Amino acid sequence: MYPFLSLFALLLILDFSSLASPSGKQDLPVLPRPIFSDRRFVIGSSDVGDGGSDNGAGDAAASGGAGGELGVGGGGAGGGSSGDHGDVSPEDAELVCASWRFAGEANNLAPWGTVPPECGTYVRKYMTGKAYDLDLQIVAREAASFARSLTLAGDGKDAWVFDVDDTLLSNLPYYAGHGYGLELFNASEFDKWIKKAAAPAVNYSLKLYNDVLNLGFKVFVLTGRSEAQRDLTTRNLNSAGFQVWERLILR
Ligand SMILES: *[C@@H]1O[C@H](CO)[C@@H](O)[C@H](O)[C@H]1NC(C)=O
Ligand SMILES: *[C@@H]1O[C@H](CO)[C@@H](O)[C@H](O)[C@H]1NC(C)=O
Repeated sequence: MYPFLSLFALLLILDFSSLASPSGKQDLPVLPRPIFSDRRFVIGSSDVGDGGSDNGAGDAAASGGAGGELGVGGGGAGGGSSGDHGDVSPEDAELVCASWRFAGEANNLAPWGTVPPECGTYVRKYMTGKAYDLDLQIVAREAASFARSLTLAGDGKDAWVFDVDDTLLSNLPYYAGHGYGLELFNASEFDKWIKKAAAPAVNYSLKLYNDVLNLGFKVFVLTGRSEAQRDLTTRNLNSAGFQVWERLILR
């Protein structure tokens, strides 16, 4: 993911591009990557695309369960009386930010650079609270159940592909130090973080990784990191608990 990495690379974690197709029976889903730009997203302006916000509204309500888990200071889904886009109450901000997040995760947003300032607190609470952890958990669990549902051909071609950044390894500590997406992504700052080789495992991914190995898949690790970062990436993966793979493929 790396050169195109944005905060929502985090939210798209473990996306289904991580799923390989055994025995070549299915084609890999090709997902569009978030494209990095310095466009600033402004809530309540015409900058919010019509299609995007329409889509977002209903589905964001459906994901209200996870949002509710954040609970701490948020007003939940109460309020809702103000329909005025210009003046966003805290309750509406919660809804609008959930809608924005959903549109981002579904790749319905035009290229964007930073989290809308109004959503800084929302995104921080999401990333550090229970909701993000639950989201990681459910995707890993679904992926594991998909893996178990497959009949392996046993011809040496049963492959499982994992991405690195924010799939096997978590860059959350980096984002914690950079405003959880309120700061424009800075590639040289991010490179410094990568060089530390200190990213922790996404623990649910570590479990999934061990599960698919035990099921008999060959693991391929595919990353947008450069070939020059092979050694430190290997070191980081090893120290985070990922010791075995068929191939590590870098740019
Ligand atoms: C990115 O970070 C570097 C320091 O690592 C700094 O020199 C540079 O100005 C930053 N770039 C932007 C666009 O903020
Ligand atoms: C993963 O880490 C989270 C905290 O980040 C913790 O709540 C959860 O229990 C851990 N899950 C596993 C399977 O270790």
